[in-house]
Amino acid sequence: MLLEVRDLHVEFRTRDGVAKAVNGVSYAVDAGETLAVLGESGSGKSVTAQTIMGILDVPPGRITSGEILFDGRDLLKLKEDERRRVRGAGMAMIFQDALSSLNPVLTVGEQLGEMFTVHRGMSRKDARAKAVELMDRVRIPAARERVRQYPHQFSGGMRQRIMIAMAIALEPRLIIADEPTTALDVTVQAQVMDLLAELRREYRMGLILITHDLGVVADVADRIAVMYAGRIVETAPVHDIYKAPAHPYTRGLLESIPRLDQKGRELYAIKGLPPNLTRIPSGCAFHPRCPMAQDVCRTDVPPLYEVTGADAERGSACHFWRECLNG
Ligand SMILES: Nc1ncnc2c1ncn2[C@@H]1O[C@H](COP(=O)(O)OP(=O)(O)OP(=O)(O)O)[C@@H](O)[C@H]1O
Ligand code: SF4
Ligand SMILES: [Mg+2]
Repeated sequence: MLLEVRDLHVEFRTRDGVAKAVNGVSYAVDAGETLAVLGESGSGKSVTAQTIMGILDVPPGRITSGEILFDGRDLLKLKEDERRRVRGAGMAMIFQDALSSLNPVLTVGEQLGEMFTVHRGMSRKDARAKAVELMDRVRIPAARERVRQYPHQFSGGMRQRIMIAMAIALEPRLIIADEPTTALDVTVQAQVMDLLAELRREYRMGLILITHDLGVVADVADRIAVMYAGRIVETAPVHDIYKAPAHPYTRGLLESIPRLDQKGRELYAIKGLPPNLTRIPSGCAFHPRCPMAQDVCRTDVPPLYEVTGADAERGSACHFWRECLNG
């Protein structure tokens, strides 16, 4: 396995108390595989990603326990310089907002080129050629001319392509894309998503795709991990989840996707709000919002049950996953 996160716990000290942002997350992604991580705002998707990448704000953040195995080595146990080297060579991240991630006073060519001069010791001329090659690779038209332009001279979709070019420059084995298309129009979203999927295949990278939009992942992801209040509540191959979710929260997310074939139908929304992470509800954290909740849900934390009878590995953290699957 390329990356394996095991029972990760991360918390933040805040004025209201300790916010438990990540509460025992485990997930894995292999080379050439795409894992989509899904969940409402505040469910801990980004904090988990930041912890993997080593860019968590510490303090106020604190990793209280867990393992992050990259190629079998626990990054959290390595010395800082070793850890930085493993991450630098092996993983890259793409963020939602390209404009604030790119340097406004350097041309795109200079920024892409820097990856090669700094990390590969190339001459400026060779690095420039590499920059043009990468821009071609992510299908930015007229790369040879546009390599001299500044980030603000590109459209949002093109800037996101530049971010992708930066991320793949050193051929990492894992890419984490945190809401890479949220700021774009729907058609551009699809193009950027297709590009990511294609590069992932070509370079056999592992891809973690964070999103709160179930609609965009159907075609590109292999597996889905659904997060709620800092835990994985359901994990399954993408097509199984669409066919029959085994967790009421996933069902709620699915039912709230607008569908073209059901125009005019009132859109379902999961009732209530995500929990305050300094006061996570007892038992199943989803119980105050769950249409299937029973007494046991208020007292007993559901483990990630193995969903038996599925062709591939599936899990659901619901006491009543069978009823949900069949309902
Ligand atoms: N720098 C921080 N300081 C304090 N608390 C933080 C910080 N970053 C995250 N948190 C806490 O962690 C929770 C989870 O945040 P995270 O960014 O992982 O959510 P997310 O699932 O990525 O949501 P979104 O879909 O909005 O990006 C937040 O609701 C907040 O309580
Ligand atoms: S454990 Fe209970 S409250 Fe939680 S999702 Fe399942 S039915 Fe709903
Ligand atoms: Mg986020």
